[in-house]
Amino acid sequence: MQIFVRTDKLEAFADEALILAYTEEAVEQLKKEKPQDAVGTLVHEVVSTGDFKGNNAQVLVLSSPTVVNAQRLVLLGLGKEKEISAEKIRRAYNAIAKKARELKIKSFGVVFPDSVGGLSDYDLTAGIVEGVVLGAYKFDKYLTEEKEKNGVHHFTILTTSSKAQNVGAFAHQSITVCDNVNYVRDLVTDSTHTINPETLAEEAKRIAKKYGMKCTIYDTKDLKKMGMGLMIAVGQGSKYPPQLIILEYAGNKALKERIALVGKGVTFDSGGLNLKPTNYIETMRGDMAGVGAVLGTMKTLAELKIKRNVVAVLPCVENMIGPEAYKPGDVFKAYNGKTVEISNTDAEGRLILADALAFTVKELKPTAVIDLATLTGSCLVTFGEFVSGLFSNNVEMAKRLFDAGQKTYERVWELPLYEEYKEEMKGEISDLKNIGYKGGKYAGAITAAAFLEKFVGETPWTHLDIAGSAWYESAKYYIPKNGTGFGVRLLTRFFLDL
Ligand code: BES
Ligand code: MN
Ligand code: ZN
Repeated sequence: MQIFVRTDKLEAFADEALILAYTEEAVEQLKKEKPQDAVGTLVHEVVSTGDFKGNNAQVLVLSSPTVVNAQRLVLLGLGKEKEISAEKIRRAYNAIAKKARELKIKSFGVVFPDSVGGLSDYDLTAGIVEGVVLGAYKFDKYLTEEKEKNGVHHFTILTTSSKAQNVGAFAHQSITVCDNVNYVRDLVTDSTHTINPETLAEEAKRIAKKYGMKCTIYDTKDLKKMGMGLMIAVGQGSKYPPQLIILEYAGNKALKERIALVGKGVTFDSGGLNLKPTNYIETMRGDMAGVGAVLGTMKTLAELKIKRNVVAVLPCVENMIGPEAYKPGDVFKAYNGKTVEISNTDAEGRLILADALAFTVKELKPTAVIDLATLTGSCLVTFGEFVSGLFSNNVEMAKRLFDAGQKTYERVWELPLYEEYKEEMKGEISDLKNIGYKGGKYAGAITAAAFLEKFVGETPWTHLDIAGSAWYESAKYYIPKNGTGFGVRLLTRFFLDL
């Protein structure tokens, strides 16, 4: 999708539709007094019928209006003035994206709503772009019929000449982020024959080449030599050999700081020999959403030329059954030398992350580490799909990620890492075991995080459990069913505000 910013007079703007947005208060005002201009007069007459109240995301289409050049005049409700937020703007403009798809509208214009709800021009622009671009998304790769060539082709924001430059810059930043969110949705939703450890390694190499990043891939032979016993164990039942991907973005060589982003990349989680049952296994191609979020963020950082240094560390495996598969009761040695008993082959994410985190802090020596992982069903049970679990050994980092979550609505909420939870992960015949506390049933998201903490040493670290937020069972507002692309907007905001 493309976005243009123009300063045309709205009556003169010719396109398939022209969108005008109103708060509920503005609608009330329009009812009371009849404006002088032709568009105002028409809207006055429409709202006088009571058909359009301006409720958030209400859409009313007026076909072939004579007062404007556009083929349709569309009234969009923003809701009550004092309830307006960036999120309400996203939801309102998502309704426009959905209406455009329904009416097969390929392009339209949006009149920039000036200073509603006290929102900044940045929030308004980003809200419009996110609502439309994220809301128009559809995973249609495998639809052989009624494919609509991806719906909306472009739209135009109409604003004043004093604002056009800023609005244009904000829109450019925002669409870059949104395109990458949609890129991640594609990666996460796609099939395992397309997205597996080998193809993810290829994708990372492609990104590296395109954006001038450094990419290193460690395959089975390397991983064995390096002592990545846990990654090897989890991946050994699959026909796709495990791959550890390192992708380095140097956006500011003068800066000492370098942040590592570690993503869980289980391209299919069958549960292993502790096989997942029906109703739990179907969506497990999405268990690489951590890798997706990190790849999408790396692309965004490069495309926006963000002046930070970031290294991605992406352990990719497929957790399968078969004669080669690892088994409950087996003990393996992690990269940092600690031994781990496999109590349950379905607690595989923490195993590959343990190796990746230990490698990251020892070899790459980042100033801070953030990992993203669809780690536990327990996190989904706790927060539903609305919030990601946050765990951290660093207060400032946790606060920064929390703030980025509030701004983007990719919200995170902290859970504690008290020592009692860490105690639960100690093994009997090994240093550690991979599940704790009532077979992983009690405090499952926390004990998983406590396990990870054993591998990060003193490095400032935050773990985000995105099991709920990365995959939706049904669409909500501008977020589609299946892969949601969670994490790109959160992390980009985190880096922009750092
Ligand atoms: N990938 C799953 C977690 C998950 C569940 C993600 C549902 C998204 C939706 C993870 O590998 C897993 O299987 N975790 C187990 C751990 C248990 C065996 C201790 C879980 O949460 O049930
Ligand atoms: Mn699992
Ligand atoms: Zn998993």
